[in-house]
Amino acid sequence: MSHTTTPITPTPITKNPVAKAAKKKADQYNDPTHNYLRYWDERKYEHAAEEIAITKLLRGKHFKNAVDIGGGYGRLCLFLEKYADKVTLAEPSQQQLDIAKDFLKGHSEIDQKLMQADDLEFKDGTIDLLTMIRVMHHLPDPSTEFNEISRVLSQDGYAIIEVANYLHMRNRLKHLSRREKMPVKPVDIRSAKNKRDEEIAFVNHNPHTVIRHLEHAGLQVEATLSVSNLRSTRLKKALPQSVMLGIERALQKPLASLYFGPSIFFLVRKSR
Ligand SMILES: C[S@@+](CC[C@H](N)C(=O)[O-])C[C@H]1O[C@@H](n2cnc3c(N)ncnc32)[C@H](O)[C@@H]1O
Repeated sequence: MSHTTTPITPTPITKNPVAKAAKKKADQYNDPTHNYLRYWDERKYEHAAEEIAITKLLRGKHFKNAVDIGGGYGRLCLFLEKYADKVTLAEPSQQQLDIAKDFLKGHSEIDQKLMQADDLEFKDGTIDLLTMIRVMHHLPDPSTEFNEISRVLSQDGYAIIEVANYLHMRNRLKHLSRREKMPVKPVDIRSAKNKRDEEIAFVNHNPHTVIRHLEHAGLQVEATLSVSNLRSTRLKKALPQSVMLGIERALQKPLASLYFGPSIFFLVRKSR
């Protein structure tokens, strides 16, 4: 899939108030009142939709070293085991790693490391599969993180980067009805209270801007999928999961060029 390539100069992090929040130590998932593992109880469709996307993007490839950046408690690490000899869960929250100890019990080959995306403790060019799923919404300016990904990725390696998509169809219809242009910069979607309390950054991105940030870091998008296209409480109640997933499987690729869904998966490689 081809994309326009207008060069960008990333916004300096210190001049962007939302980005400033992201530069803090990324330990926001240490909140003892929030159990991220339980969050997934009601999200079987979304979880399966993400596994379908990874399967489509990797198409049976096999890797030596896979790393899941911001992998939480390791939700997707078990799935990544199919694709790599060694999987590392790289996660900045100690609480998530503590949950991971239990969740990944019996999978001693999955390494667990306390690590943040803007400071990856891997040598240059040593990772041949890197995933970063559901982390971008905490990264208003991902320039440093993308530079790190580019640095650690091997020349023939692949990264799967998931983007919380502001251009999804519902937003586009909303903006159209108000005759407003779609924003190019990340949109802060925190509640007024969370903004006041300077809570953890929470943004949705314009995928075109993300592509330009990737290019600036020496990374190029090789394939795109639109994911969780049927994410709707009503639909989830009305349709059996097998039907939802059949439709999801069929639509991820055709809807990608429209950036239809709330979640966009990019398959990324080093620029050649
Ligand atoms: C919504 S959770 C997603 C966890 C996991 N990727 C998944 O999909 O199940 C967001 C994760 O991103 C991690 N995170 C937040 N900021 C980060 C950063 N700057 N670098 C790496 N991980 C980060 C959080 O600690 C948390 O585990």
